[in-house]
Amino acid sequence: MRLIRAKNYDDMSLKAANIIAAQVSLNPKSVLGLATGSTPIGTYRHLVEWYQKGELDFGKAVSINLDEYCGLSGDHPQSYRRFMQENLFDHINIPADRSFLPDGTQTDSALECARYDRIIEEHNGIDLQLLGIGRNGHIGFNEPDDHFTCGCHVVNLTESTIQANRRFFDSEASVPRQAVSLGVGSILASRCILLLATGEDKAQAIHDTVCGDITSRTPASILKTHPNVILLLDRAAAGML
Ligand code: PGA
Repeated sequence: MRLIRAKNYDDMSLKAANIIAAQVSLNPKSVLGLATGSTPIGTYRHLVEWYQKGELDFGKAVSINLDEYCGLSGDHPQSYRRFMQENLFDHINIPADRSFLPDGTQTDSALECARYDRIIEEHNGIDLQLLGIGRNGHIGFNEPDDHFTCGCHVVNLTESTIQANRRFFDSEASVPRQAVSLGVGSILASRCILLLATGEDKAQAIHDTVCGDITSRTPASILKTHPNVILLLDRAAAGML
């Protein structure tokens, strides 16, 4: 794993946006694996700004997001589809029919997971996978468990994740308990992985990922088996290394 230390959130966001911009400039047809959450918002802001200045073109790119809440339609204010529209897709020229997220309203989840895995296959895998990390070490919604799950699957969110995501919802009761997530196998099949972490509350998860054993109890620790991973951390997130 290559470690890049950023001074703070803004510096991390700028560095991350530079890496993604380089990917799209080198290969305009890049398949980008994208993430939601607070962490990548600053990164997306830079990408939007550079697109609007004419410095970046997403017209031939493809994006495949990591996850979506079960039960939320794409126009629900807390859905990840809506998050992506508001923070990125509505402001850049990525074609609407080439920006993919799982459909959280599909009642046959096995069918939806198979469809989503097929989308990744049909696009010949992900070139650059952007990841955040949960305080419990999750990547995508691959929560700590006694095993790793390879393909797209439905996840029961842990209490820690429900509490962390509570801030986006009116009440705890309205936080979905399940999500559809890309599996660890699909994440590891990406040609390059860029994991961002900011803030003190991620320091323990980063410590366990970097210094601990490879274990499904810290899902991000599996990234140590991948040959091309960049951990881009601000000072606080790197504070226990
Ligand atoms: P956050 O979420 O960016 O909102 O901290 C990251 C994650 O849970 O993967």
